[in-house]
Amino acid sequence: MTTDQRSKLFYWLSSFVLTVVRLIIYTGKGGTGKTVTACATAIKIAEHGHNTLVISADPAHTLSDAFMMSSIGHELAPVQENLTALQIDPVTEMSRQYDTILSYMAAIFSAKGIDETLAYEIAMLPGMTQLFSLLKIEEVDRTKTFDSVVLDMPASGEALRYLYFPKLVGSIGRKLTGLAGLFSGFAKILQPLAKIPAPSKDVIQSEMELLDRLDLLADIIKNNDTTSVRLVANPDTFSIENAKRAMMSASLYGINVDMAVINKIMAASSDEYYAKWASFQKSKVEEAKANFYPLPIKEVQLYGSELRGLEMLRRHGEVLFGSEDPSKVFYRGKPYSFVSKGTGISMTVQVPFTERDDFQIERYGDQLTISVQTQAATIVNIIPLPIATAGMKMAHAKLMDHQLNVLFEKSS
Ligand SMILES: Nc1ncnc2c1ncn2[C@@H]1O[C@H](COP(=O)(O)OP(=O)(O)OP(=O)(O)O)[C@@H](O)[C@H]1O
Ligand SMILES: [Mg+2]
Repeated sequence: MTTDQRSKLFYWLSSFVLTVVRLIIYTGKGGTGKTVTACATAIKIAEHGHNTLVISADPAHTLSDAFMMSSIGHELAPVQENLTALQIDPVTEMSRQYDTILSYMAAIFSAKGIDETLAYEIAMLPGMTQLFSLLKIEEVDRTKTFDSVVLDMPASGEALRYLYFPKLVGSIGRKLTGLAGLFSGFAKILQPLAKIPAPSKDVIQSEMELLDRLDLLADIIKNNDTTSVRLVANPDTFSIENAKRAMMSASLYGINVDMAVINKIMAASSDEYYAKWASFQKSKVEEAKANFYPLPIKEVQLYGSELRGLEMLRRHGEVLFGSEDPSKVFYRGKPYSFVSKGTGISMTVQVPFTERDDFQIERYGDQLTISVQTQAATIVNIIPLPIATAGMKMAHAKLMDHQLNVLFEKSS
């Protein structure tokens, strides 16, 4: 059987074993509350009777800190009825599942005169380790172990990019002679001292399996009926900007975002200092509502003490979801959409105002600012632009039925 036939057979077989695991991914800027919100969501889903797994791809022991349970580690650990937690150790995961490929890559590097220990370090580049953590989801999906998976992504503006990585690697990977091709950048930097050892049959098979798994992972993540990304931000400019960018990137890759959580909102106060902060945050929440439109927004206050432990997490889940099942898809739609038009790009953005409102639109570098004068105040909606628009000019903008359509064209 040729590799192509084998790969087709793999797909055909997997279409029968693929379950519909509900996957919810929390992402956002550092410290906004992704981990506690992922845990609270998982507790609530479990209480709705779904067999749930909460995974953290953060190398630190964040889940055991949040649940305050030292038993949570790199193996599946029970938390309560229907709820299991897993802290992924990318290094263990990678060497457990991909030792053949790793050894081969180590062999390539050592053939080039690099010490084997260092070769392993290179093979453990951050992007790769994150990716191997995500592959755990594909494994859960394939083995039908859980109905719902809540994934807590580590803090990084780049975190969401790893979700798209399968798609990229999946398409590039097959065109390369092997996975080691991914590291060709490194190979070029290093002066070739010796010939690259030819991959063995085992290595090739291992690679093909990995690429198949990446494809399946991409399918899971892009399935809008089962996978949702949820954004976590605080009422401040930086984390809201970060979340908006994540929403824009998700739209570009066809991944559904179904909710934004604005966490740690300060309560009103009679103290002047706190009252000033509370009022600033209130305006940020309003701005976020306009900016994330029409996504459902959940607002959560800053509690009186640090949010941790099962009891507090459960209450956080109550505040977020009340009696609703958090595993439902809260929103299906496209806040942003991008379509290539000739050599340009047509962008459509859902906005909370109409053509009757008095609006102004301006572009500053990689963002578009729409200011709208409503009866109450001026709302400013800042829309992040995809990198592809960098060399283009804004040719045309039209606002209709809560939709802003902007055409970007290549500047001549
Ligand atoms: N609404 C809240 N009220 C009080 N404390 C909170 C609230 N939300 C989160 N916290 C606290 O803020 C801290 C950061 O929360 P958490 O670890 O969930 O954030 P994170 O986004 O996962 O951070 P990282 O980016 O480092 O992974 C924790 O100490 C948590 O208990
Ligand atoms: Mg965290």
